[in-house]
Amino acid sequence: MAYSFPERIIHKFIWFVKNFRQIKKDSVIFHAIHGPAVYNTDGLATSNNSDFLKDEKFLKAYNAAAATNPWEGFTSQWRFYIVCWFADYVKHLEGNFVECGVNTGAYSKAIIEYINFDSLNKTFYLLDTFEGLVKEQITTEEEKVGVSNYLKAYTNVYEQVKETFKNNNVKIIKGIVPDTLPMVTTNKIAYLSIDMNVTKPEIEALEYFWDKMVSGGVLIHDDYGFPQHIHQKHAVDEFAKRKNVKVLCLPTGQAIIFKP
Ligand SMILES: C[S@@+](CC[C@H](N)C(=O)[O-])C[C@H]1O[C@@H](n2cnc3c(N)ncnc32)[C@H](O)[C@@H]1O
Repeated sequence: MAYSFPERIIHKFIWFVKNFRQIKKDSVIFHAIHGPAVYNTDGLATSNNSDFLKDEKFLKAYNAAAATNPWEGFTSQWRFYIVCWFADYVKHLEGNFVECGVNTGAYSKAIIEYINFDSLNKTFYLLDTFEGLVKEQITTEEEKVGVSNYLKAYTNVYEQVKETFKNNNVKIIKGIVPDTLPMVTTNKIAYLSIDMNVTKPEIEALEYFWDKMVSGGVLIHDDYGFPQHIHQKHAVDEFAKRKNVKVLCLPTGQAIIFKP
């Protein structure tokens, strides 16, 4: 899947040209981090403690994710640490796990490894077209900020995903969200990951699953803080306001919402 290194450089350059006027002179972009960087990739640079990078259990999970080959030059440790941590946090709740937007299954494979998911008597529902975004779901506004670039970023990974999860407690649901949502046959969800890069299917999935989430269950929205995903952020903010819940925005770009 995904962009090659030169493509990513080009997209970054285009993003900068389109947005540099908005980067104010006193922006934190121009402030140095407080010491040698211990993490500097995936839109996040920090000198703060990142001990998990040396944690063997985490490394094993991260390597399992990397083995699915999600994209060329894959480095996304902080985001993976977050999903593993929250999956671990909710694993003893009643309810199953759901991910909408799976691609090669990197997040879900990391979680399965990290929390020994197969010992939990739960099912991990994995929903994706397994062949990329749906053009008709991308709005003109999303097109303007570059979401259509993702149309050529994904290849058909369905057979690969079946192989990756052949020994795990997963249900792989291939097709377009929202059409496939009723194929998730659980009414109790402890962990919900939304990561489809497009607003329409994400909000429809959120609406569909929210009432099925158990109290204390966690929702992780992957794209929330990324500039090119601003329309998804607005929609999640509107959803959260309507449901009277708070959004925790992380420096990784992810958003966390707990089900009351
Ligand atoms: C960013 S990737 C997901 C990455 C994944 N969470 C991981 O662990 O690497 C986005 C995925 O959303 C899927 N997708 C986008 N729109 C969709 C839709 N309407 N229905 C189903 N899948 C969709 C794409 O096929 C793609 O695999």
